[in-house]
Amino acid sequence: MTKKVGNKVVVIGTGAVGISYAYSMLNQGHCDDMVLIDLNRKRAEGEARDLRHGMPYAPTPANIFVGGYADCADADIVCICAGVPQRNGETRLDLIDNNLKVFHTIVSEVMASGFNGIFLVATNPVDVLSYATWKFSGLPKERVIGSGTILDSARFRVCLGNEFNVAPVSVDAHMIGEHGDSVIAAWSAAHIAGMPLKQVFEQEANGRARMEKIHQNVRNAAYDIIEAKGSTSFGIGMGLSRISNAILHNQGVVLTVSTLLQGELGQDNVYIGVPAVINRQGAVRVFEIPLDENEAAKFNQSAQLLKSHQQKVDD
Ligand code: 2OP
Repeated sequence: MTKKVGNKVVVIGTGAVGISYAYSMLNQGHCDDMVLIDLNRKRAEGEARDLRHGMPYAPTPANIFVGGYADCADADIVCICAGVPQRNGETRLDLIDNNLKVFHTIVSEVMASGFNGIFLVATNPVDVLSYATWKFSGLPKERVIGSGTILDSARFRVCLGNEFNVAPVSVDAHMIGEHGDSVIAAWSAAHIAGMPLKQVFEQEANGRARMEKIHQNVRNAAYDIIEAKGSTSFGIGMGLSRISNAILHNQGVVLTVSTLLQGELGQDNVYIGVPAVINRQGAVRVFEIPLDENEAAKFNQSAQLLKSHQQKVDD
């Protein structure tokens, strides 16, 4: 097993998403130890070597290894990016049968190592696979977090930032629900410096159409990018890195992730994208984002859809 120096992150699956995450983590100096695990060990060795060569230019040095499941024993975060990726024309939910099988093996192997940290799940369909990871691992729900709608929320903030000519970091807006086709734009809770964006749009003659266009743009972003370049990776890699930074440095920031609802927003026993406080203990608190009637109804539909797919985990 590799020797741990400080904050240790294990990345399972060194495809485009796993390596974008690793690159972002190292480039931003978020961890001290990184272990890459992949069925294709040669590929993982190549990636590790390549990443190591960036270390002279990273903000802090990190040890980068290629390893196996035993390395998860003392990891602070295990990020699962393995599985079949979405291809042109497929929905995220189409991937469920294949990826559920893969997850059963991965989570069992990680838990067998004695792992007692936080799982971060990125593989699609991410909400269902986060639920599966929680069930298969037996860990408290706080310690199983899915990337959920962190990327959709980023896309939303980028679009709104462009509309209002402000940096996306200054846009407070969330996409919630399934990380998939039923994702919802929480317009009622979208602000810039306290300015309620829904009201701003609704005061314009074509405001509703513009809102719908932004929603479509966000919802279809992955399809458009996959058609153009075969996969998405950088946005999700940076989103995963943001969640990891919040965990490792106990930041207590609100990020939109997939977490288990237990009565919040009128839903129970479903992993779904909502704003939650992320700190060293994981996703510790869900914020009941204010929704109008229409948004609440769509959120409910999205939760019911996910629940029907989660059923496959329980069967
Ligand atoms: C994305 O939204 C495909 O889920 C991935 O970019």
